[in-house]
Amino acid sequence: MEFTTLGRTGLKVSVAGLGCGGPSRLGMRNDATSADSAVKLIQQAIDFGINLLDTAQNYGTEPVVGRAIAGIPRDRLVISTKKTLPKRDHANPEAEIIRGLEQSLKLIGTDYVDVYHLHGVEPDDYNFAKDRLLPPMRRLKEQGKVRFVGVTEGFVVDPTHTVLQDGLKQDLWDVVMVGFSLLNPSARKTVFPLTERKSVGVLNMFAVRRALSQPERLKELCTELVAKKIIGEDLLDANDPLGFLLRETDAKTIPEAAYRFCRHEPGVHVVLFGTGKSAHLKENVAAILKPALPAPALERLEKIFGGLDHLTGN
Ligand SMILES: NC(=O)c1ccc[n+]([C@@H]2O[C@H](COP(=O)([O-])OP(=O)(O)OC[C@H]3O[C@@H](n4cnc5c(N)ncnc54)[C@H](OP(=O)(O)O)[C@@H]3O)[C@@H](O)[C@H]2O)c1
Repeated sequence: MEFTTLGRTGLKVSVAGLGCGGPSRLGMRNDATSADSAVKLIQQAIDFGINLLDTAQNYGTEPVVGRAIAGIPRDRLVISTKKTLPKRDHANPEAEIIRGLEQSLKLIGTDYVDVYHLHGVEPDDYNFAKDRLLPPMRRLKEQGKVRFVGVTEGFVVDPTHTVLQDGLKQDLWDVVMVGFSLLNPSARKTVFPLTERKSVGVLNMFAVRRALSQPERLKELCTELVAKKIIGEDLLDANDPLGFLLRETDAKTIPEAAYRFCRHEPGVHVVLFGTGKSAHLKENVAAILKPALPAPALERLEKIFGGLDHLTGN
């Protein structure tokens, strides 16, 4: 495994992080009985040297993270979890933040989390998040129950990163979680210059999702991009949109190319990946540790997708 420093937090983190949410939720999204396999998957990730685990109140995976890490010295791990936003008309949103954290600590079986995020903050909620929810998170930080505070963007409704572009103008967050992929590399222009300037830690989500892991979904998406003339057909063969990556680079699969694309992006500290399959976990760790894609392939990707800021990859 390779390690890097998560911005101003100073935390030493593996460049690959295990995402315990996403479409797979460690295999538990559609199969709650698979908790034992999820525990094994997390332990396998730790055996590969991954030390950053990302979970959330609403994933239902905090208990399996707790089971998997029991007995491992706590300071070897960096645990990131997230609080679902209380409604704006909640009677006491501050108390709900505290309650949420206490519940997460209990489920994970730990005294502190390394990064406590507000989960999927959408543009309409940002001021509420900053004014009402951040202050209790700061108090938790002072008490040592949270080491660093973070925010994850609601990428599906905000693929142009308006929340982070606005939020990073002030110096409020230690860590942010950003949607970034070869299909929507817009954070390169609008977010990473801000995080770099302020040494904010960056966790990369949405590296692969459905479009880059399911060939039929990719074809469907690219056919639509060409039909709507968002991308010219001279640039993109909708029947085989990313075939050139397999023909012209040493990448063996599209997910491999997609994770490598993110891993070598300056400004990204940790590439999160989600899976319910042990074989994919092994492949993804290997992919993230491979060298960058060759420059001609990156240039071609930039020509095709470099100007897009609306795709999520779902
Ligand atoms: N707003 C937020 O806060 C937010 C939103 C989304 C995600 N996240 C975090 O980011 C993490 C990463 O996102 P994600 O889980 O969507 O991850 P991802 O790695 O971008 O995509 C995961 C999808 O790709 C598939 N996949 C993974 N490896 C593969 C491989 N080698 N070959 C083929 N298919 C593969 C998985 O299915 P299989 O199970 O079949 O492998 C799953 O459907 C999440 O787990 C979560 O922790 C946060």
